[in-house]
Amino acid sequence: MSAAAGSSQATSQGAPQGPQRTLNVGLIGAGNISGQYLQTLNRLADLNLVAVADLDIDRARQVAEAGGAQGMSVEELLASPEVEAVINLTIPRAHAETSLAAIAAGKGVYVEKPFAATVAEGHQMLAAAEAAGVVMGSAPDTVLGTGVQTARAAVDSGKIGTPMSAVATMVTAGHESWHPNPDFYYQPGGGPLLDMGPYYVTSLITLLGPVTTVIGAASALRTEREIGSGPRAGEKLSVSTPSHITGALIHESGAISTLVMSFDGTASQAPPIEVHGTEGSMTVPDPNHFAGEVQIARDRGQWQTLETAGGYVQAARGYGLADLLWSGAFDGDPGLGRAQGALGLHVLEVMAGVLSAAETGASVSISSRADRPSAVPLDPR
Ligand SMILES: NC(=O)c1ccc[n+]([C@@H]2O[C@H](COP(=O)([O-])OP(=O)(O)OC[C@H]3O[C@@H](n4cnc5c(N)ncnc54)[C@H](O)[C@@H]3O)[C@@H](O)[C@H]2O)c1
Repeated sequence: MSAAAGSSQATSQGAPQGPQRTLNVGLIGAGNISGQYLQTLNRLADLNLVAVADLDIDRARQVAEAGGAQGMSVEELLASPEVEAVINLTIPRAHAETSLAAIAAGKGVYVEKPFAATVAEGHQMLAAAEAAGVVMGSAPDTVLGTGVQTARAAVDSGKIGTPMSAVATMVTAGHESWHPNPDFYYQPGGGPLLDMGPYYVTSLITLLGPVTTVIGAASALRTEREIGSGPRAGEKLSVSTPSHITGALIHESGAISTLVMSFDGTASQAPPIEVHGTEGSMTVPDPNHFAGEVQIARDRGQWQTLETAGGYVQAARGYGLADLLWSGAFDGDPGLGRAQGALGLHVLEVMAGVLSAAETGASVSISSRADRPSAVPLDPR
């Protein structure tokens, strides 16, 4: 368990100071990604892990022990008056059920990506949180790190002029080469867009603002994939969802982003994200990471690396919740802070829209709207 309240580190460089208080956190879903959250929770005194729950109680107890907290059932965690907010690390199709139960118990929620398994569930979660007046936050929080935030600072200070377009590219050979049970990546609800898209689309919205309309095209030209590791190595999987997706996102500003999300390449040297403006072009580092080099080219096209100019310097998984806390979301205004559920839902609707456009051939209007989250000034935390 981390230390007591009032321990927010001092910030420098004019970074805004959030309220000095500690948040008692319960974690639901003690699987693969919980280890990265534990590291953050063990380091940040402001997030105080008090309970861990999972359908598998032994797993919950193990993770709880590593975090100095109590392992328990989901029901016990939600009934605990000590828990103020839930970090929801369950699988996507359980996000809605578990988040709604936490909201009904009066807890704030911070849920991993994708926000929900369906847009309808996402709307239900957001409406329930709003009605209950509790915080509803959403991953990914990689965009709060120095990589995307340095790019954001460059856009905001006019270094590339007015942004007109962006290209986001994620091309890999697919996770079956290393993942022993990769079935879900090739079934509806999986695929490269829903798996990796949240990082890219959240970054594009952070840089260029909300999206109003999408179009898309998608394919699954390899109908079988072969498991490359583990006890099932050599077993063939059939593919029932697109494994290569392209989309165009029309932002409210008029800028257009092109998205390529694919498990059908061998490798790629394309920058994860490029943004082109009236005065220059910029490359943005891997949005699945918190840090990385931002480069811009102006005038004669010489690329230069920018100095780090924004973001949480020590950001890691869980900073989205810390940012909500530091911004005051838990002190009466759940709308404060950047990693808002409204953004998570908007990102989900954009991705679902691209898939639906690819299926029907028609463009899709995006009904949800999320404000472009405010920039994170350079912050040593
Ligand atoms: N694994 C990664 O690298 C990674 C990275 C970033 C984000 N994520 C996201 O984190 C979330 C969890 O991913 P993971 O890889 O840790 O999955 P996982 O399958 O390893 O773990 C999920 C855990 O949730 C538990 N669980 C499922 N339904 C539950 C329910 N109704 N109540 C309580 N517990 C329940 C499972 O028992 C399991 O222990 C997903 O939303 C995923 O997209 C994962």
